Order: sequence, then structure tokens, then C-alpha cells
Amino acid sequence: MINIYPSLMTADQLHLEDEIKLLQPHCAGFHFDIMDNHFVPNVALSVDTVNIIAQRAKSVWVHLMVEKPDVFYAALSLPSDSTISFHIESEVDILGFAKIIREKKHKVSIAISPKTPVAQIVPFCNIVDQILVMTVNPGFSGQPFLQNSFEKIIELVAHRQQHSFFRIGVDGGIDATNIKKLIEIGVDDCAIGSAIFKHEDRVAALHQLQQISNEIKK
Ligand code: DX5
Ligand code: ZN
Repeated sequence: MINIYPSLMTADQLHLEDEIKLLQPHCAGFHFDIMDNHFVPNVALSVDTVNIIAQRAKSVWVHLMVEKPDVFYAALSLPSDSTISFHIESEVDILGFAKIIREKKHKVSIAISPKTPVAQIVPFCNIVDQILVMTVNPGFSGQPFLQNSFEKIIELVAHRQQHSFFRIGVDGGIDATNIKKLIEIGVDDCAIGSAIFKHEDRVAALHQLQQISNEIKK
């Protein structure tokens, strides 16, 4: 089952609640980006906003693009089963932080930026629920999909077939031109910003992406 999560940093920030109400019946859940203007040169949703809005979303996927994800996580109050993505390139003690996330009944996801080789994530594959392959340099929505991401995902899928199961997430530049191939090679979860929110009719845009996904027999 492929899950599409609209990425709310790209939504209309003055009407976040309305955006959620509109899309909620049609998607798996929502993707929430938090940045510190240091790990990446931008800021997105605040911790306070996420804490409020996450209570209204049926499934929550938080993406921490910050140098100290454990510090930001401590200030978050999220429903059980939320997925927490943090970067392997951040400063955190990965095993210790994964344990803290599990204790809170949340799912562990480690993100890798485009320049980070898959080999670096391999030692952690058996402690995660999801690996998030960034398909653009993290920090901004609306960037073009990096084509060499396909090779990384294929490498990760090969590893998954031989070892432990984990979901594979992608984030950045996903649209109607690349979602089919991503799913065919083994992706499970897609965070999608512009390809939904740049359209006046967000529901139609989401449905089009879902339709393409549903045509693929995995
Ligand atoms: C960017 C964020 C993404 C962003 C995706 O680094 O992590 O979640 O909202 O937006 P698009 O789909 O426009 O690349
Ligand atoms: Zn993201």
C-alpha cells in the first residue's frame, strides 16, 4: 500500500486547518517539516504549530531538518504512531534517540540527504520503521527531483530484500512524472508538496497522483 502525505510547509500557511480538512479524507496523513535555519538555511513549521495541527491530522509524519533533533522532539506533543524522521547527518546519538522515540510509541525514521551514501544508513536498517531518502537537498519545496535518487533507492531496496524490512520514504520533487517509477522500484511513502499545493484544485491533484500509484502492481 502506497501512502501519500501532503507536505504542509507548502500549503497555505494562513489556512492550514482548512487545508487539512480538505485533504484528510483523501490521503494517508500529513508531512510536517521542522527546520532550524542551521542544519538547513530555512525555517518551516514551528513546534507550536505542529503540536496544534498534528492533533487534527489522522496520521502524522514529522521531518526534523535540524542539527539537534532530540531537543526539538522533546518539545513536540504528537499522537501515538506518529513517524519521526531525523537526519543521519545531524549531531544526535542515533541509537539513543531511536530508543527515546520508541518509548513514546512513535515510529523511527532516519533520513539521508542526497550526498550521503546508502552504505552509511545500512548499519541502522534493523532499528528503523522507515528510511527517508531525500530526493532534493533538504530545506525548500519546489526544487527539481534529483535523478540519481533512483539508484540510491534501488540499492536500498536490494539491501531490504536480504535483510530486515523497513518502509522506504521519499521527499522532494515528487510529481506525476516520477511517482510511477518510484513506486515500481519499491518506495512506500511519498511526501509531496508543490505537486499538490501549487494546484487550485488540490484534491484533483492528489487523486491524479493516487491514480498513477494504484495502476502499479507491486
Ligand atoms: C523540503 C521538505 C519537503 C517539501 C517538499 O526539504 O522536506 O517536505 O515540502 O516539497 P516539494 O514536494 O515541493 O519538493
Ligand atoms: Zn520533508
